[in-house]
Amino acid sequence: MRIAIHGKGTMGKILKDVAGEQVKFFVDEIEEISENGKIDVVIDFSHFSKIEKLLEECVKRKLPLVVATTGYSGEILSKIVEASKSIPLLLSANTSLGINAMQRVLKEISPKLQDGFDIEIIEKHHNKKIDSPSGTAKAILSTIQSVLTEQYNVVNGREGVCKREKKEIGIHSVRGGTIVGEHTVIFAGEDEIIEVTHKALSKKIFALGAIECAKFLNGKNPGLYTMDEIFN
Ligand SMILES: NC(=O)c1ccc[n+]([C@@H]2O[C@H](COP(=O)([O-])OP(=O)(O)OC[C@H]3O[C@@H](n4cnc5c(N)ncnc54)[C@H](OP(=O)(O)O)[C@@H]3O)[C@@H](O)[C@H]2O)c1
Repeated sequence: MRIAIHGKGTMGKILKDVAGEQVKFFVDEIEEISENGKIDVVIDFSHFSKIEKLLEECVKRKLPLVVATTGYSGEILSKIVEASKSIPLLLSANTSLGINAMQRVLKEISPKLQDGFDIEIIEKHHNKKIDSPSGTAKAILSTIQSVLTEQYNVVNGREGVCKREKKEIGIHSVRGGTIVGEHTVIFAGEDEIIEVTHKALSKKIFALGAIECAKFLNGKNPGLYTMDEIFN
């Protein structure tokens, strides 16, 4: 597989090490990939401000794309969906296989626990992370919401004098030190608590998962894919 990495930050560099000879281009700007250079998949670990241009170029050149960058707006998300009508595109806010397994567990247990348990999400990351809550926490929230039978309000953080409502999901961000990434969903019931946690111990897991995404996407028809399809 011939990979182009878009984004020369921390993740781009780790991915370059892990993917080794499969990496044909390692660029900060999509235009640096020569038009006649043969590549099978572009993997993006960059900055949300660069996604729009990346989509335009990948659509123009018919290049399959893994978008692993987070922090983009709803407007950019619509452009991602639009681009996926022309190219195979896999979108994942967390490419680790463990988080995707956790999502499966949450899909299974959330509807069964929704009546007797309060649901809270806590995410922890290093002190350099720019977006809060993390893209993964948002993805976890959306997985839980997708299987609950009733509408829940989302509460970002808590302060002041105000009791928790029954039909709400709290989401909390902690930032500090070099924490790679931790996500916990707490189901707190009467006299019992269930916690589902994933802890990333190094960023290598995201790079390995992104390569799995690229392998999956290689040769696929245009469409919007997620890591759920890899598990299937
Ligand atoms: N899907 C996943 O599993 C996963 C895992 C980890 C991270 N991520 C996401 O992947 C992205 C990259 O992560 P990273 O740890 O590699 O970040 P990073 O080290 O900050 O690198 C990000 C890249 O974007 C550029 N950049 C940073 N701020 C920018 C700005 N304001 N405008 C334009 N370019 C900017 C950086 O260039 P400079 O070095 O010149 O600033 C660098 O090339 C982030 O969105 C992160 O949340 C996703």
